[in-house]
Amino acid sequence: MKSMNVDDALRKMPKTELHLHLEGAVDVYTFAELAKKHGVALPEHNDPAELYQYDSLVDFLVMYSAVSHAVRDHGDFQRVTYECLQRCSNSGARYVELFFSPESHLEIGVDYPTMLAGVLQGVTDAQTDFGLITNLVPAINRELGGARSVEFVQMVQDHREDRVIGVGLDFNEAGFPPENYVEAFELAAKVGLHRTSHAGEVGPAANVGNSIDLLDCERVDHGYNIVDDPAIVAACVASQIGFTVCPTTTTYTSAFRDLAAPDHAIRQMADAGLNLNINSDDPAMFTSDLADEFSIVHHTMGFTLAEMKQFALNGIDAAWIDDSTKAQWRADWSTEIDALFNEVS
Ligand code: ADE
Ligand code: ZN
Repeated sequence: MKSMNVDDALRKMPKTELHLHLEGAVDVYTFAELAKKHGVALPEHNDPAELYQYDSLVDFLVMYSAVSHAVRDHGDFQRVTYECLQRCSNSGARYVELFFSPESHLEIGVDYPTMLAGVLQGVTDAQTDFGLITNLVPAINRELGGARSVEFVQMVQDHREDRVIGVGLDFNEAGFPPENYVEAFELAAKVGLHRTSHAGEVGPAANVGNSIDLLDCERVDHGYNIVDDPAIVAACVASQIGFTVCPTTTTYTSAFRDLAAPDHAIRQMADAGLNLNINSDDPAMFTSDLADEFSIVHHTMGFTLAEMKQFALNGIDAAWIDDSTKAQWRADWSTEIDALFNEVS
């Protein structure tokens, strides 16, 4: 007998989450509480939920910084990490590579070892309580420039922990192209850190190509504007490099605001044969979670359940884990997903 609602199956199905920012996952009521605790002034509001509203990347990043400034001590970092990972687990995530934004805390005087220790404690607690495996990816704030990005990677290396497995590059692409960060990414590669970059979200397709060719990125975050350049699309189809796409984010920050449109970038990227996995980016700040993103891709964007399964397996391919774990998860998750979808009425 068929008994399961499709959204329940999409929520339960095992998934990776490879593009998730800790600070963008801070629940708005937690934000309000931490802001009060630390005496951080908030913009005028009736209900804190009103604070998470913006309609461009720039506006969003202003609020993202405000949220970051309310997360200050070891207990704050532990709490927001644990809450973030609890929601991941409730979305069916089994493996997370979690970005965090050290610069957004350093700029108000929080030191890196304090934030890292708090985040690691939250990760350990979440693994104990939910069995969720998480690795960490400190992200370079590109707006601080190339010279600072080298110092940043050196700082990450000086405080290296096993769970710190890579670096990202985020904040506003406009005016801050990948070519500025070659030295930082070379240093990251030299010390054995994996590499990824936000590209083609609000910047040109060339930023996708240059993130791969100049920064030696092993995957690309977002990537939407790649659809403007067939040659870069063809190269990425050939290499099958992974793209961590984030459907709801596109409606806030990108040129592709209508998820149902047949020419939405994610639809075009999939149809071109690019290797996509689905992620939530800033789930609290965009009022979503990983399972919601899977539901949107199925219901609003019209991808089939077979395609949803493939997106989940693509996440395993793009993850920074060893090949034998990948093979095991591919086999196990495939069986689990087939059984779940078989139950869908
Ligand atoms: N930091 C958090 N979310 C981001 C996004 N969508 N683009 C750039 N930087 C970010
Ligand atoms: Zn992002």
